[in-house]
Amino acid sequence: MSVMVETANLLADRINNLEESATLAMSKKSRELAAQGHKVINLSIGEPDFKTPKHICEAAKQAIDNGFHAYTPVAGIPELRKVIAEKFKRDNNIDWKPENVIVSTGAKHSLANALAVMVNPGDEVIIFAPYWVSYSEMVKLAEGTSVILEGAFDNDFKVTPEQLEAAITDRTKVVMYASPNNPTGSVYSEAELRAIAAVIEKHENVFVLADEIYEYINFREEGHFSIGSIPAIKERVITVNGMAKGFAMTGWRIGFIGAAKWIVDGIDKLQGQVTSGTNSIAQRASVVAWDDMTAPETMKRAYLVRRDLVIGLLKEIEGFKVNVPEGAFYAFPDVSYYFGKTDGEVTINNSDDLSMWLLEKVFVATVGGGSFGAPNCIRISTAASDEALKEAVARIKSAVETLK
Ligand SMILES: Cc1ncc(COP(=O)(O)O)c(C=O)c1O
Repeated sequence: MSVMVETANLLADRINNLEESATLAMSKKSRELAAQGHKVINLSIGEPDFKTPKHICEAAKQAIDNGFHAYTPVAGIPELRKVIAEKFKRDNNIDWKPENVIVSTGAKHSLANALAVMVNPGDEVIIFAPYWVSYSEMVKLAEGTSVILEGAFDNDFKVTPEQLEAAITDRTKVVMYASPNNPTGSVYSEAELRAIAAVIEKHENVFVLADEIYEYINFREEGHFSIGSIPAIKERVITVNGMAKGFAMTGWRIGFIGAAKWIVDGIDKLQGQVTSGTNSIAQRASVVAWDDMTAPETMKRAYLVRRDLVIGLLKEIEGFKVNVPEGAFYAFPDVSYYFGKTDGEVTINNSDDLSMWLLEKVFVATVGGGSFGAPNCIRISTAASDEALKEAVARIKSAVETLK
């Protein structure tokens, strides 16, 4: 024991101060229980259960066979930066040139890069909650201070312009959010983002980090709206996106940013010293991704069917408060009705307790809301088969309804 304490002390403070990823912790526990022979249904991961579209895989094979094996430019291969600039124009109405685009090792890397180049020690970063687990930890790594703004359940977990206005100080450097959102599935409408942008416009030293990784999994009829398309603040918006979710390419590790050239140049400088250009084969494969959007469309329809299935079933559970996600592939019910209740041995004090109890009791892995800044809720991934989802929710229902 004393050896462990001593080695932990040898690690830098910046690592000792980081939280472990809650989602990865639940996956680890699920694997352990499965290895013991339990029939675990793992709904704790944020990963499409589809395969990468064929035309993208073919392009990767060709890149290997054609010997595309060398280092690439730090910011990405020119043909990929060009295709991404065209995508920003076509899909997002953001007029960026290839020089405004930089490719990185997943959107996670893009987000961490953006914070690293924008945030000085002590700068405040406003994060809209519930938020993706890594945001607050990335801000810590950049030595910034997170200011968490909670979106109310009754406002579909969305932050209002009034809340934002009240939270901005002269230390505020960045405002960051994801839409569609992980973990809530909420999507900010064009009108809501225009109102947020009107606040940002008044504060000329404040930047926006818009995480649009779930862009293609958006069920709203009006479709996706990018805050970066608003001319008054365009130069101050860093738009992050990537291949992982829409194209079912989590393992390929391609993320990208569209931003003002001086920001892209800053990231290029950082990346040049830390990772260099990302994987050459994955970049080549990504160039052809947008040539055929059939698969992302098909996947989106499947996620919508599952959303309706899971939300319908969750609404039947006594005490669960359920919002209707308009995007992504998560359900995020408020389970606070069960706080203070017990099975005779374990008392449930928060959603992290409930999530762990469900895993141990009925072998369904979810993620407690604590690390998303929402301790009343649990996250349930709907990226699983209909049968698995039905069985999982039935197990959750029968378990929680025994709590007294
Ligand atoms: C909101 C959000 N942003 C970014 C990412 C990271 O995506 P990538 O796999 O491209 O790093 C995720 C992945 O779960 C996410 O949910």
